[in-house]
Amino acid sequence: MCGIAAYIGQKNAYPIIIEALKRLEYRGYDSAGIVLYDGKNTKIYKEAGAISCLEKSMDQKNPIGKIGIGHTRWATHGVANTINAHPHHSQNKRLTLVHNGTVLNHHLLRESLLADDFHFYGETDSEILVNFLANQQAKENLSLLDTILQHSLKLEGRSVFVVHDLEDPNKIIACNLGGDLFIGKGKDKQILACSDKNALAGYVDQVTSLAPGTLAIIDADCQIFDLNSKLKLKPEWKKLKLNAESLEKGAYPHFMLKEIFEQEEAISKTIEHLSKSSNYKLEKMLEPYRRTITRLRKITIIACGTSWHAGLVAKHFFNELADLPVYCEYASEFMPTDVGAGDLVIAISQSGSTADTLQAVQSAKDIGAVIISICNVEGSAITNLADVSLLTKAGPEIGVASTKAFTTQLTALFLIASQCGEWRGYLSPNRKKSLWKELKNIPLKINEVLRNNPKIAELAKKYQSANNFLYLGRGTGFPIAMEGALKLKEVSYIHAEGLSAGEMKHGSIALIDKNMPSLFIATEDEHYDKIINNLLEIKARNGKIIAITDSLDTQIKKEADDVIVIPSCSPLLYPFLTVIPLQLFAYHVALLRGTNIDKPRNLAKSVTVE
Ligand code: AGP
Repeated sequence: MCGIAAYIGQKNAYPIIIEALKRLEYRGYDSAGIVLYDGKNTKIYKEAGAISCLEKSMDQKNPIGKIGIGHTRWATHGVANTINAHPHHSQNKRLTLVHNGTVLNHHLLRESLLADDFHFYGETDSEILVNFLANQQAKENLSLLDTILQHSLKLEGRSVFVVHDLEDPNKIIACNLGGDLFIGKGKDKQILACSDKNALAGYVDQVTSLAPGTLAIIDADCQIFDLNSKLKLKPEWKKLKLNAESLEKGAYPHFMLKEIFEQEEAISKTIEHLSKSSNYKLEKMLEPYRRTITRLRKITIIACGTSWHAGLVAKHFFNELADLPVYCEYASEFMPTDVGAGDLVIAISQSGSTADTLQAVQSAKDIGAVIISICNVEGSAITNLADVSLLTKAGPEIGVASTKAFTTQLTALFLIASQCGEWRGYLSPNRKKSLWKELKNIPLKINEVLRNNPKIAELAKKYQSANNFLYLGRGTGFPIAMEGALKLKEVSYIHAEGLSAGEMKHGSIALIDKNMPSLFIATEDEHYDKIINNLLEIKARNGKIIAITDSLDTQIKKEADDVIVIPSCSPLLYPFLTVIPLQLFAYHVALLRGTNIDKPRNLAKSVTVE
């Protein structure tokens, strides 16, 4: 939600910032802007719409300056227009700021600023924020650094802001009050700071993440301070390993399709990373908590959206492999009574910067729970909060609709559940070994499923004009049904509901008629016969049926209107295979409907507001 890119160096900042913003555009794409300092003055350029609109508007201008800050917005306070677009300047025009996140106490700050004779041109909390800083600075005659050190903790809510002060113009200050900002150092003392590490690729070779509760002076020295103690901290610089090509679509028309097809590799890399590599080996990472794990009576999973669906699948993994009940909570609905001191919480987040998840994890941590995070972004806020941070190796996921992040999360969860099962004496080491072996074969089976792509494209043609869909499954098929429905909604804007097939007859069946297709997850597991019954119930009401199955049974082929056949595997591993046709179906329907597949309307990839 909102992307920030700030540059300071010897080159013209504009082309560097605009390229970085394009890589950050998945975080918000309703308006964009840049401030440049040309050695004398700051100049702000902003436009409503995508970054391409800003870029186009710059054609006839001559944007110059070696210091600059850019922003791509996902509106929270105030409509998406040019006035509300960032950067925002203070009333005295001294400070210019971009902001990601929300200032929850902006109403109170606004009132006190109004009392001090401030006026506002727009509706954003970010404009309040820049004036709050300017007011404190002026009243107490402080440098920008001291203003932020002394007053930033009065700001409530999670946010990251980056500010330029015209009276101390050769530096930029970035403050992290609970989000992500990565600072990179390149050749010739160039510094680029971005909301996502991937946006730094190609410009810098060393990177550090600005932890929540700290600020950075972005200049050649790049000093970092703790906001509580006000003490200087030593940044930990690491080599930036990403290459810029991993951020391109290559031969694919959309990132979503590319990322669907990357799942084979992403799962293999995640298995390799968590089960072989000596530093990150799962057993080694979890070892300090082995005693806790053997005594556990339950696990709580906290996540949102697709990551929450991965958590729901993991309920089955932990149940069957470790004899452990799992309570999978929406992060935004998390209640402190959901966990106690010493409980184990697994937080799942692709981005590691989802505000709802961070908030819930912080509450669980405050209560004394042990936090394991499963995250795709090294150095993100959630990895900083967790006691054990396990990384998935999906690589950059740029399409707003999550695909490869989901299956790599399932991979990590399956490995953790079986490790817990072994330590709890529920799974023999040999059984664990054979399960891991089966998991290693999953990428090959995904490859087989992907061969259905042309057929699924045809099915999309057949069903694209339906206005509503039901997705139905039982057992692990239920969260996959929810995930499939979410994918369709996100990218095609068609209403879809994912339901437990057993629950469907308790109400939602009233929706069924010839215009409402149902997608069934009908794999050959313990639920198969019941699923067939549910399928027949829909058919009896003239509903159209698409079934995803590995069954050789002729009945399903006879009863369903269309069948997508997937290979067989152990029942617990079905979700890895059944989700793929649903991702492809959503993609092809969206393609036919002409939506903005990688950046669907109203959405953003990292939801950094609560
Ligand atoms: C998935 O397609 C969505 N874009 C969304 O539900 C996402 O999974 C959710 O916002 C959680 O994000 P996270 O995994 O980065 O925390």
